[in-house]
Amino acid sequence: MSALLDVQDLSVTFHSPHGLVEAVRGVSFSLQAGEVLAIVGESGCGKSVLCKSIMKLLPESAQIVGGRILLKGTDITGYTEREMRRLRGRAFSMLFQDPMTALAPTMTIGRQIGEAVLVHRPRLPRAALRRRVAELLDLVGLDPAAARLCPYALSGGMRQRSVLAVALASEPSLLFADEPTTALDVTIQAQVLDLLRAIQQKLGTATVLVSHDLAVVARAADRVAVMYAGKLVETGTAEEVFYDPRHPYTWGLLRALPARAREGEPLYTIPGMPPSLIDPPKGDAFACRNEYALAIDYEEMPPMFQITDTHFAATWLLDPRAPKIEPPVGRWSK
Ligand SMILES: Nc1ncnc2c1ncn2[C@@H]1O[C@H](COP(=O)(O)OP(=O)(O)O)[C@@H](O)[C@H]1O
Ligand SMILES: [Mg+2]
Repeated sequence: MSALLDVQDLSVTFHSPHGLVEAVRGVSFSLQAGEVLAIVGESGCGKSVLCKSIMKLLPESAQIVGGRILLKGTDITGYTEREMRRLRGRAFSMLFQDPMTALAPTMTIGRQIGEAVLVHRPRLPRAALRRRVAELLDLVGLDPAAARLCPYALSGGMRQRSVLAVALASEPSLLFADEPTTALDVTIQAQVLDLLRAIQQKLGTATVLVSHDLAVVARAADRVAVMYAGKLVETGTAEEVFYDPRHPYTWGLLRALPARAREGEPLYTIPGMPPSLIDPPKGDAFACRNEYALAIDYEEMPPMFQITDTHFAATWLLDPRAPKIEPPVGRWSK
């Protein structure tokens, strides 16, 4: 059976006044129906560009310069805007960081959800449409009375729930959620993530969940892909990446989590910044921030080493000749 989404060796560049930006560099991953994949990494690592390139929502200055995107086995890399629009209405839906930009400010929530349903099912009679809107509101945990409110009358969490209802109106098989909780406060974040998880379990909607925060995705993802400087540097089940991380960048992200700080010790931060993607460093792009870097890291790009059937990491530390290093994150107790 072919995967729902199969991204093969995808590369995306931008033309910018300062030069060519290599925002996505040879990314491969696949997503099975109903699965939640989290993509994590610091800001500027290419997470949004990766999602937008799959949905073909990139600006004109960007170009897919290599690789293929397969949806249920069909190559959609060369799809026209018209073909993509049909896909975005049916197969894909999306949820962005700021729910306000996705909603019309002066139209009631009920009407906005209703319009999204009608795009998908244009001939739905009025009574059935009303029922469907109520069903979607219920699905995202909103009171039916919310249908009569405009977005400005809602809290941030309720707005994001409304956007989710709009996104689910087309019954997508794949949902992209790009930092959907970043603008929300912590308790509401957790509620929205739990909701995404519950919906995925109820409807079987596969989800690509993007976040700069590993702790945020811990509770919601089946698999995790760690992205750095336009590349995936570690992928595995959520268990593997959290409890047995192998890439020094993943160690850094985990050490930086407040939940893992030891009492009385300052919170760890990864030294330095992600590199510019105009002429990115050769070798392992993380080398200059990596206290465990080997000489070869500055010279040659590490291959993806396989750790288990599902766990991969691109670090020279996994080469049989490399010194054995105890990860500085310790083992988490589950
Ligand atoms: N419209 C654009 N023009 C030029 N470069 C861009 C544009 N959008 C994003 N980039 C660059 O692509 C890289 C990846 O950006 P992005 O995917 O937004 O990162 P993330 O979502 O991980 O924070 C960054 O170096 C960013 O500067
Ligand atoms: Mg982003």
